[in-house]
Amino acid sequence: MHTSVLLKESIDYLNLKDNSTIIDCTLGYAGHSSEILKRIPNGFLYAFDQDSEAIEKANKRLNQISNNYKIINKNFVNLKLEIKEKVDGILFDLGVSSPQLDEDYRGFSYHKEAKLDMRMNQKQVLDAYKVVNEYPYEKLVDIFRKYGEEKYSTSIAKGIITKREIKPIETTVELAEIIKENVPEKYRKKAHPARKIFQALRIEVNDELNVFKTALKDALELLKPGGRICVITFHSLEDRICKQIFNEVSTVPKELSNLPIVPDKYKPKYRVLANIKPKDKEIEYNKRSRSARLRVIEKI
Ligand SMILES: C[S@@+](CC[C@H](N)C(=O)[O-])C[C@H]1O[C@@H](n2cnc3c(N)ncnc32)[C@H](O)[C@@H]1O
Repeated sequence: MHTSVLLKESIDYLNLKDNSTIIDCTLGYAGHSSEILKRIPNGFLYAFDQDSEAIEKANKRLNQISNNYKIINKNFVNLKLEIKEKVDGILFDLGVSSPQLDEDYRGFSYHKEAKLDMRMNQKQVLDAYKVVNEYPYEKLVDIFRKYGEEKYSTSIAKGIITKREIKPIETTVELAEIIKENVPEKYRKKAHPARKIFQALRIEVNDELNVFKTALKDALELLKPGGRICVITFHSLEDRICKQIFNEVSTVPKELSNLPIVPDKYKPKYRVLANIKPKDKEIEYNKRSRSARLRVIEKI
């Protein structure tokens, strides 16, 4: 089962009215969406997910609340193509859900033996097996550095190349072992040495950062005045993108900041409302929330 992170905080910040129109970009198992749907009896909910398994379960849950919703089985990068009206609120609860992590065969976890996969969209062609076994050395180093911020990227990539020349690397545990063998002994004692590389592979396979950047910019355009976007991120790379985009649209351009009166067309159209982390109590009861952060912005 998936325990929703920062549930109360994000729902409160969405400022739901009974007739609000809301988009949940990451439906998952409908933890957030169920709460939203309950509070908008005369409104409408659009919910995206690219994972058919999650959608099936979420649909059963939402069905019991009302019919005022539409599930869109697509990547949220299609936001602007799919939604043709302005809305009151948009939620992103990024990353993977606990069931996705727990299902061995999805290949997201380095603790569980599985085929290297990591696709959120099971119809997609690129998977972690292809990245690990087919990407050239330089490209592996690049994604490990960029998306994993891993300081032993070169030695790990070399280790992968050496192994795969003998035979393809098939499973998560096999890969985790290779990673372990290619970092210094004392580094292995900190967090699991495979953590950052698995994060990097997941980001690459699902193109997570580019997709999020595009969708967040489009989401800003879809808001009605007074409408809000809540973004829950789970690592610094996603959070940095969110922070940067929110800063850009909520501040006066640097060149104009000294003017006594800023012309209307340069005045920010959005204001940042919150940047919060889960309380200790939530972290205690849901470990997955420890790296989470919620940022909220409002269209003025
Ligand atoms: C953390 S879970 C959301 C959990 C949900 N808020 C809940 O409380 O049940 C993230 C979900 O978003 C989906 N997802 C992630 N990136 C996506 C994308 N680019 N497009 C569509 N769905 C995406 C994943 O498949 C996953 O089901």
